[in-house]
Amino acid sequence: MSDISNTTERDPNELRSNRWFAPDDLRSFGHRSRMKQMGFGDQDFRNKPIVAILNTWSDLNTCHSHFPQRAEDIKRGILQAGGFPVEIPVMSLGEMLMKPTTMLYRNLLAMEVEEVLRCHPIDSVVLLGGCDKTVPGLLMGALSADIPCIFLPAGPMLKGRWKNETLGSGSDVWKYWAERCAGNLCDGAWREMEDSIARSAGTCMTMGTASTMACVVEAMGFTLPGAASIPAVMAEHSRLASATGRRAVEMAWEKLRPSDIISVKSIDNGIVAQQAIGGSTNAIVHIIALAGRAGLVMSMDRFDEISQKVPYIADIRPAGRFLMEDFHNAGGLPALLNLLQEQLNLNCLTVSGKTMGEQILGAEVIDDQVIRSLKNAISPTGGTCVLRGNLAPEGCVIKTVAADPKLLQHRGPAVVFENYAEMKQAIDDPDLPVTKDSILVLRSAGPLGAPGFPEWGMLPIPKKLLKEGVRDMVRISDARMSGTSYGTCILHVSPESHIGGPLALVQTGDEIEIDVAGRSIHWHVGLKEISKRRAAWTPPDFKWKRGYHAMFAAHVTQAHQGCDFDFLAGRSPGEEPDIF
Ligand code: FES
Repeated sequence: MSDISNTTERDPNELRSNRWFAPDDLRSFGHRSRMKQMGFGDQDFRNKPIVAILNTWSDLNTCHSHFPQRAEDIKRGILQAGGFPVEIPVMSLGEMLMKPTTMLYRNLLAMEVEEVLRCHPIDSVVLLGGCDKTVPGLLMGALSADIPCIFLPAGPMLKGRWKNETLGSGSDVWKYWAERCAGNLCDGAWREMEDSIARSAGTCMTMGTASTMACVVEAMGFTLPGAASIPAVMAEHSRLASATGRRAVEMAWEKLRPSDIISVKSIDNGIVAQQAIGGSTNAIVHIIALAGRAGLVMSMDRFDEISQKVPYIADIRPAGRFLMEDFHNAGGLPALLNLLQEQLNLNCLTVSGKTMGEQILGAEVIDDQVIRSLKNAISPTGGTCVLRGNLAPEGCVIKTVAADPKLLQHRGPAVVFENYAEMKQAIDDPDLPVTKDSILVLRSAGPLGAPGFPEWGMLPIPKKLLKEGVRDMVRISDARMSGTSYGTCILHVSPESHIGGPLALVQTGDEIEIDVAGRSIHWHVGLKEISKRRAAWTPPDFKWKRGYHAMFAAHVTQAHQGCDFDFLAGRSPGEEPDIF
């Protein structure tokens, strides 16, 4: 898959790792002798690229269980190309088992990656991740370190199967849970689904955040072509891993840095992909954070501008019918991007050393049910929209393609929950004053309020309405939503309620109006009443006061700014410590 170039000048003296190993001095003696302590000879590590594999594996990361084998596949490729592989574990961030949310730790992973790369003798790096936050976390750190890097996505798991039904991660869990709550599904069937929805290693196989971010990172130029969709357990994924390892060696010689790849244009390519695949709303936060690491300021409005021009053409759940395995068999991201050439910046460089235009050249759609033609697009515009108004002065987002079209213009009375615990306790109360036209509002769910910005934005439909057949309602919160979720959920309301955003002042019974076509969200309460409520509002205390959490509280930015730490924008001052 990767062409090994013979034209690159190969001067070992220019390798970054040679600053550790080449000099004839006391420190370098120590570096070399301790490499030899591990059984490596000069011919193993001297005068050749040292390629790190940053591995986000752990026994509690359910999506990365194949990573020990993939790391070996990458090492094989690195050795084939004349490099020296070193595997380094970094924070794992398994979405399913970490509480309260992996988003709390994305920036911690990014900090770790940046510092691990800076402080070690590493010439280039393979970033091995996949489960949601590992993708942005790894790349954010690598962008700041600006050492040659290439991403290997974990790949999606195989399709779930229950009786005659195909099951999709997350999406079908929410769907059948609603049926169970409505009394339409027995306990036995529910248990059978538990056994059959996650059939192999790999990330969620719907177009959730993991698959979305894999596609975004590929479209931004950080993977070999087609990497985003190859299922985790296929032999093709092993071959991709070794090709990625080979390419990482070449990138070290070429000194092809992330700063050569990322630009406003390549980020736009990532947004084009995110819109065309009906990708997760979480990608908006992550892309803004990635841009920030490259010293670029990306506004939420850019997502909306691109959304107006890019059709939604990948028919993948939760918004569509198929799953990532089908997407891969239909041609994967290169085929989809090939259809969108007019929307893309084709001259952007990729990690393969080719431009994006060259990378997707000739990629064909095999199944136009899964990747639709532009003429037969599922929607003429992209999958997500940004709304603004007096309830969200800095914006909020909605995944329009996963919403009930009838609710995209809606006015109704708010039913407000102060926090998640209150919502959980009250939502199924038969006396809750809620109808299908109500708008469910959750606050204290943003970056600081929750804290950590959890995926609470798909508020459950009250059981009494489920029994009446209601399956979607307008829901508004300062939370995020899982990429596998669906419904008319308005998310990332910014500024969040915890810091006094307007959401903090909404009361049950207030009328709220959304108009997605007009990109507006309006809270029908007069200025005088708003001032009165603001005067009576007291800022809540932040409950976490020590360690990483205290740092998070002091430095995390709001949703529209990417939720990175304010002191992490831009690149490291230098690529390694000054003193050896
Ligand atoms: Fe890991 Fe969904 S839980 S990708």
